[in-house]
Amino acid sequence: MKEIENLIDIAIANKKNSYSPYSNFRVSCVVKTKTGAIYKGVNIENAAYSPCLCAERSAMSTAISEGEKDFAYIVITGDSQDTFPCGVCRQFIKEFADNETKIVIANSVEDYKIFTIDELLPHGFSSKDLKN
Ligand code: THU
Repeated sequence: MKEIENLIDIAIANKKNSYSPYSNFRVSCVVKTKTGAIYKGVNIENAAYSPCLCAERSAMSTAISEGEKDFAYIVITGDSQDTFPCGVCRQFIKEFADNETKIVIANSVEDYKIFTIDELLPHGFSSKDLKN
């Protein structure tokens, strides 16, 4: 199985851990760092709604908390066809992704698309903008 398909497989299998009793919309994210480590995340909702955490920020925060912030793959799968990251997650990803980072929008191991962060967040704000 190709590396990318293995990651999609893990992401789809982990969707069951989504805590989404309010939206009933499950999202799962698997990241692979450039060192080869794999971290998983799911969306985690809250009765007060605004504290809801997306799967992407959940997975990436787990990786970053372990000292891993260079991402080779960010694989996202959700309950809709082509679940793309929300705007907040695109900005969160922008902080850590480079143009080699493959952001994979996966429906199945046979059906996925790959993007860079600049494709998903054109003209995005980053630390470079603070250095003028
Ligand atoms: N959600 C994610 O986890 N990632 C996204 O990029 C899109 C939205 C979650 C948040 C909420 O728990 C549910 O999907 C419905 O919006």
